[in-house]
Amino acid sequence: MGNRPTIQSTLPTGKQATSVSPLAGRCTAVVGLQWGDEGKGKVVDLLAPAFEAVVRYNGGANAGHSVVVKGERYALHLIPSGILYPGKLAVIGNGVVVDPEVLLKEADGLRSRGVDVSGLVISDRAHVVMPYHKAEDEVRERLISESGGVGAREGDGKGGIGTTKRGIGPCYADKAQRATAVRVGDLANVEALRTKLRRICAFKNATLGAVGCRAFDPEELTIWAAQMGERLRTSIRDTTMLLHDLLETGKPVLFEGANAALLDVDHGTYPFVTSSSTTVLGIPAGTGVPGSRIDRVYGVVKAYSTRVGNGPLPTEQINPIGNRIRERGREFGTTTGRPRRVGWLDLVAVRYSAMLNGVTDLAVMLLDVLAGFDELHVCTAYRHKGVLIERFVPDSEFLYEAQPVYTTMPGFSQEITAATSRADLPAAARAYLDLIEKVVGVPISIVSVGPDRAQTILA
Ligand code: IMP
Repeated sequence: MGNRPTIQSTLPTGKQATSVSPLAGRCTAVVGLQWGDEGKGKVVDLLAPAFEAVVRYNGGANAGHSVVVKGERYALHLIPSGILYPGKLAVIGNGVVVDPEVLLKEADGLRSRGVDVSGLVISDRAHVVMPYHKAEDEVRERLISESGGVGAREGDGKGGIGTTKRGIGPCYADKAQRATAVRVGDLANVEALRTKLRRICAFKNATLGAVGCRAFDPEELTIWAAQMGERLRTSIRDTTMLLHDLLETGKPVLFEGANAALLDVDHGTYPFVTSSSTTVLGIPAGTGVPGSRIDRVYGVVKAYSTRVGNGPLPTEQINPIGNRIRERGREFGTTTGRPRRVGWLDLVAVRYSAMLNGVTDLAVMLLDVLAGFDELHVCTAYRHKGVLIERFVPDSEFLYEAQPVYTTMPGFSQEITAATSRADLPAAARAYLDLIEKVVGVPISIVSVGPDRAQTILA
């Protein structure tokens, strides 16, 4: 098992967290169990001190992890949240699609705020999001939308998938297509890159040009990409070997999932998903570290549901309840600023995601947002065509037709943002957490009652 590091609470109150040992395993993962934006950044930030490296394995700049440290908010899209701890390696694994402009801007922004970014390492095998990928994302969404939408039903996803337009899907598609792909390692070899981009631009201009995209000039792109490569050069490594070297010497590694289980390209609410493997199942392919190395998985759950973009959200509240949660929870996208769709907690979905990820610990986030409701509703089953269903069905058509069956819980009126232990919480909030543990069948180790690092109950 190697060393099992113990997480020390970072609560500035001087209080030591109780019964948190051992929080970390040799390899630990933090993954979202809903549709993203659960608060994974905060959990990673909390756990990071015990690890040598924090590693992203999927997605790209579509993710938005916000972390609040000493009242300062950091919004990270590509760089692992662990960067906020000096001395840690922040690794972008081969499974990530890297927009070099976003990456460099993010690194510059952190530097200008005094954050040491020297621990940033990028896999030479990660794929590069090129300008034509973003153009393609945009044009696909528009054309699909104009042609009637995504789903099988009329009007279903008529706005397209509702992507972040960060070029994620087109970049992963090129990775699978191979001949038109650019990897981070390619950025260092300008002559080879020039040849490759000539070929790629001929293809892209023919295909994207036919649907109204601007033409891309291979020489311009070569100069742009070479500049990016030059600035990133010292950070580019074979991260698979780096991670295995760390593990061989007993160093613990933390994996930071981006997006979330229900957006997984295989196991999510397809086709309204992102283009990568967002669960722990994506870690082996996205980093080169086998799944057998992972012995602790934190599943991060928001105390209610949110979703950005199109697709089913069975417990959605398009009413004053949803508006109140959106305002209190500041539910506007970190990446796109879009207002998030809001609904009651869906434990049928969360239980499924916990199963997929082999979750060992739950982290329940934003519990404070629910203060002030007389009653809280939690979906514990669906009714579909008159039949009671207790198992999640990752099928958009099914979910559009499924009616949530709610368990109604008493609400809590008092604010809970100062609570430092589960015992400090009002009885109704404790009962809400008990219900989550019972239905999901996994213990809660972390409860977040506010955005700051300090506003955390380690249970
Ligand atoms: P894409 O990843 O930009 O292709 O977008 C596909 C779908 O996933 C859209 O509905 C996005 O809103 C959603 N999505 C992608 N990443 C995130 C995330 O980090 N949080 C929430 N939703 C996301």
